[in-house]
Amino acid sequence: MAMENFKQFLFALSAAVTVGFVSIIFVLRWVFYFKEGLAWDGGLAEFNWHPVLIVTGFIFMQGIAIIVYRLPWTWKCSKLMMKFIHAGLNILAFIFAAISLVAVFDFHNSQNIPNMYSLHSWVGLAAVILYSLQLVLGVCIYLVPITPTYLRAAFMPLHIYSGLFIFTSVIATALMGITEKLIFGLKNPSYKDSPPEATFVNVLGVLIVIFGGIILWIATRPSWKRPSEQVLRSPPTNGGGSVGIKVSQQTDLIDPKGNGDARRRSGKLEDSGQVN
Ligand code: HEM
Ligand code: HEM
Repeated sequence: MAMENFKQFLFALSAAVTVGFVSIIFVLRWVFYFKEGLAWDGGLAEFNWHPVLIVTGFIFMQGIAIIVYRLPWTWKCSKLMMKFIHAGLNILAFIFAAISLVAVFDFHNSQNIPNMYSLHSWVGLAAVILYSLQLVLGVCIYLVPITPTYLRAAFMPLHIYSGLFIFTSVIATALMGITEKLIFGLKNPSYKDSPPEATFVNVLGVLIVIFGGIILWIATRPSWKRPSEQVLRSPPTNGGGSVGIKVSQQTDLIDPKGNGDARRRSGKLEDSGQVN
């Protein structure tokens, strides 16, 4: 199945993966070169698990989980298999986020620092709670086989919106956390004097924003959406040329409700019951 603007997709995907990997290298260098390293000792090295697990798990893995349906190489895999991969990566990302919260709460408690006083912690905890809700609802609606198709279709726009909303909130939370940590942690020279650590970690923040921006771009291109099962499984009908046909053209031909309405464009498929 050919994809429209495949080269642009490949460029966006490579950019996302590269910027994501570089962000992970940056957070590791921050922690090991500028900071105290990693340990589980109630001290600053335990706090450091917080940004490391957030960037690798809650940002990078979640980002990849969001766009995994869009990889054209996976379109020959069954939808069920892709759901397991999408859900599995999101569950892994959640586990990373949960451990990162345990690290920061444990650090605060052993240092007698108050909990949940900052805007960062409020928005962050809200994002983690919403994320867990999204996970449970996702599994119940799209993996449990008895959920009726009309319910799956009805929830899909909400699932997509809330997924992208939570992902964006996580990026915003990370930026607040980074800023707080630089302000708290840098003394002589302080943040405003731009020591090398400050500039380095500012760049990490910019990389995270760019990563988020590319993921949101990929996830919102209608023509890069995984074609419906009907399109993927149907035999060629146009003289054997179906392999090369453009996805958006094909999806235009779908009759989502079986009532002769073939007007929907590919970008609207999430509203149309093509969610089984
Ligand atoms: C504290 C969540 C990313 C730095 C906290 C707390 C939560 C939280 C709930 C409160 C802990 C407590 O009160 O005991 C999150 C979430 C993130 C995230 C959901 C996902 C993006 C980051 C990042 C950094 C960071 C990337 C960068 C170093 C901090 C700092 C604190 C903290 C310095 C202690 C001060 C405070 O409570 O605001 N975080 N965090 N966070 N986080 Fe994050
Ligand atoms: C699609 C986010 C968990 C099933 C999506 C999309 C996003 C998203 C942003 C749109 C992707 C696209 O348009 O290509 C999330 C987040 C989750 C989560 C953040 C975890 C917190 C789950 C779970 C399932 C699930 C557990 C259960 C299988 C689906 C399905 C689609 C989808 C079936 C439609 C894919 C398609 O037809 O192209 N999800 N999701 N999601 N998600 Fe999730």
